[in-house]
Amino acid sequence: MPLLALEPAPEGAGSARSAERPVLVVDLGGQYSQLIARRVREARVYSELVGHRTPARELARRNPVALILSGGPASVYADGAPKVDPELYELGVPVLGICYGMQLMALDLGGRVERTGASEFGRADLRAEPGSRLVSGLPAEQVVWMSHRDSVVAAPAGAAVTASSATTPIAAFESPARGLYGVQFHPEVVHTPHGQALLENFLFEIAGARPSWTPAAVIEEQVEQIRARVGSERLICGLSGGVDSAVAALLVHRAVGDQLTCVFVEHGLLRKDEAAQVVETFEGHFQVPLVHVRAEDRFLARLAGVTEPEQKRTIIGEEFIRVFEEQARRLGDVGFLVQGTLYSDVIESGGTDGVAAKIKSHHNVGGLPEQMDLALVEPLRQLFKDEVRRVGEELGLPEQMVWRHPFPGPGLGIRIIGEVTRERLAVLREADAILLEEVRRAGLYRELWQCFAVLPAVRSVGVQGDERTYGYPIVIRAVTSEDAMTADWARLPYDLLETISSRIVNEVPEVNRVALDLTSKPPGTIEWE
Ligand code: XMP
Repeated sequence: MPLLALEPAPEGAGSARSAERPVLVVDLGGQYSQLIARRVREARVYSELVGHRTPARELARRNPVALILSGGPASVYADGAPKVDPELYELGVPVLGICYGMQLMALDLGGRVERTGASEFGRADLRAEPGSRLVSGLPAEQVVWMSHRDSVVAAPAGAAVTASSATTPIAAFESPARGLYGVQFHPEVVHTPHGQALLENFLFEIAGARPSWTPAAVIEEQVEQIRARVGSERLICGLSGGVDSAVAALLVHRAVGDQLTCVFVEHGLLRKDEAAQVVETFEGHFQVPLVHVRAEDRFLARLAGVTEPEQKRTIIGEEFIRVFEEQARRLGDVGFLVQGTLYSDVIESGGTDGVAAKIKSHHNVGGLPEQMDLALVEPLRQLFKDEVRRVGEELGLPEQMVWRHPFPGPGLGIRIIGEVTRERLAVLREADAILLEEVRRAGLYRELWQCFAVLPAVRSVGVQGDERTYGYPIVIRAVTSEDAMTADWARLPYDLLETISSRIVNEVPEVNRVALDLTSKPPGTIEWE
């Protein structure tokens, strides 16, 4: 019988640097809203997304050091175009409007926005006026990235036009007296080479923010919060081998030591040597109490004869929860479950009430029993993936674990196309290890979002020596991506591919053919199942 439902973490729990004044990014539905918060954090200033319907008094309660209005849908005049509470302009903190955010600001404050017939998409040459505070210290002429149809044709009362491009006479305005700043272009994207410096001008020179958001500060604050929250109760954490659960567990261990027990369910679907590394790192190196459950036989028995991808996922997920619950019961008196939920999961579940909030199905198997009578501790709830990695490094997690590519909960189970058997797992594991070893050796591992081998369980004819063979193919899947929502196939060098192919065929006797997947996402997905 399942235990009871999970109790969510209370408001503010898990929020890092809550003592620090944040930069609040008001999400108006633009595709880059998250990126703006990330860029601010790269400048070591804590930043969070908030929904555009958030009342000004609620924003004020957060005591922000500055506000940024994000980009958004095509026109401020469109039906249902997102608006903000106009009182936010009066909070006495600087406001930067970007693209749609700039247009909304102009509209709200007595300026004018029109469809001029001169849309601008892509690269544009910007010319800044002397005296612009945003562009201070940067080249007056620079390349920026634009993406808009409407344009501001009159700046708000009292604001000076501080930059223009050939098609957009008002590409930026500033009113230092009122703390209002607007840019039509996107400083947050890499195609605006001085964009980060411009954001830093806004943060440090204009808003007077302090660059104090560092991994060490995150750890310090989380440790304090975890201690205050859990008192002397015990906690349990499922380790998956991935960086998120590892960092979450280490943070909690740093805070409350042996009150934490980690459970590592070895389902037999991990990559080569991965299970050993988890055990060695946690039990050996960090001396975290660890229950290592060797459950390979159970999983394989339930997967026997199953070929349908979703059925595999369901079986693996269910079995995982069952094993985990058994262990939790055995541990007895446990009050909290630690989870490595990330900020992007929170946002993608509609957590900011953003108009662009996408609902992502959380196919998360690594440690997610949905029905347990435990309260959640989610120390990474406010962190982006790259920040989790930096916190992991600071905590001393081995480089290989910190930089490990994302790996699906059902593991190799969904990289064998067809029935999952012990033999096929062994073949796939060897081929995958060769692939990763060569990619690492070529210095390309960190440039790739994911890189792995797939084993379609079909056979093809080959010839090796004087013999005809009838072996498995291995498919190489390597992609670059920012967030896994879209991805491109990686252009691995031919000589690297040659080495990988010949090593796999020579060293894994069951394989006689290596193929390369040349599909981006969309239309393909990253995984094959
Ligand atoms: P797709 O294949 O949909 O994958 O392009 C996007 C990202 O999600 C990972 N993925 C999964 N993660 N359980 C997980 O925990 C799953 O069932 C699963 N399926 C895909 C995938 O590796 C990629 O990073």
